[in-house]
Amino acid sequence: MERDDKRAIGLFDSGVGGLTVAHAIRQLMPSESLIYFGDTAHLPYGDKSAESIISYSRRITSFLIDKGAKMVLIACNSASASAFPLLKEEFGDTIFLMDVIEPVVDYVAAGKYSKVGVIGTNRTITSGTYEKRFSEKSPSTKVVSMATPLFVPMIEEGFIFDDVSNAILRAYLSGPQFDTIEAMVLGCTHYPIIRQQIARIFNFNLEVIDSARIVALALKRELEERGLANRNGNPDDIFYVSDYTPYFSRIARMFFESDINLEKAAIWS
Ligand code: DGL
Repeated sequence: MERDDKRAIGLFDSGVGGLTVAHAIRQLMPSESLIYFGDTAHLPYGDKSAESIISYSRRITSFLIDKGAKMVLIACNSASASAFPLLKEEFGDTIFLMDVIEPVVDYVAAGKYSKVGVIGTNRTITSGTYEKRFSEKSPSTKVVSMATPLFVPMIEEGFIFDDVSNAILRAYLSGPQFDTIEAMVLGCTHYPIIRQQIARIFNFNLEVIDSARIVALALKRELEERGLANRNGNPDDIFYVSDYTPYFSRIARMFFESDINLEKAAIWS
């Protein structure tokens, strides 16, 4: 029988959004420990340059490796779109790395969709990463993408199921370009929080592709194949942030769906 690898899964995001992925991992793999890093000192990543995000991602990856992570998941689409190939080049010999875009592209490719929408931050959408990866793996799928940058502050401020969120959701999503899509890819780790509201804009007439769950499923497969899985015992998590305020603590709860303690790790000082 294979031995359990008790080391933690390392994952990072610009802030608390990646906790939707951490939550999906916890649901699917309840024994796996997590070391999470939210770069709250630099959020939002969605409006930063690729160069800045690459340099933040490098430092955070080193930090997670130093903390003993058994693998590193980039739990942020903006960082996945900007930094994944470079991180793989730099750290790929040291540690197993995953991003949140590839598993979703594989899922869409397997589903043979003819037209999908993708929504995400300015950085993710202007990078063209989804289009590029779809054209390689699922060339017959037409992709319509749109930057929806107001969603992140809207969610963080708790405008989830009310007139404000409804107006913003409609303003972005009710245009004709999305008329014939079969599925909408949530290209930002904040967006699973509003998946139902997005489905409602389309009268529940399309599939909302929740990357958090798809990434967790792909991660489970990879850990098992690589002999890195931990199937027994209780998890021992640590959640770091690069800047701490009580506000982050409050919203972290909404994303992880249970109480967590945020610890400050001043890696930029
Ligand atoms: N959660 C990040 C993502 O998936 C977006 C948040 C931000 O802009 O910092 O792209």
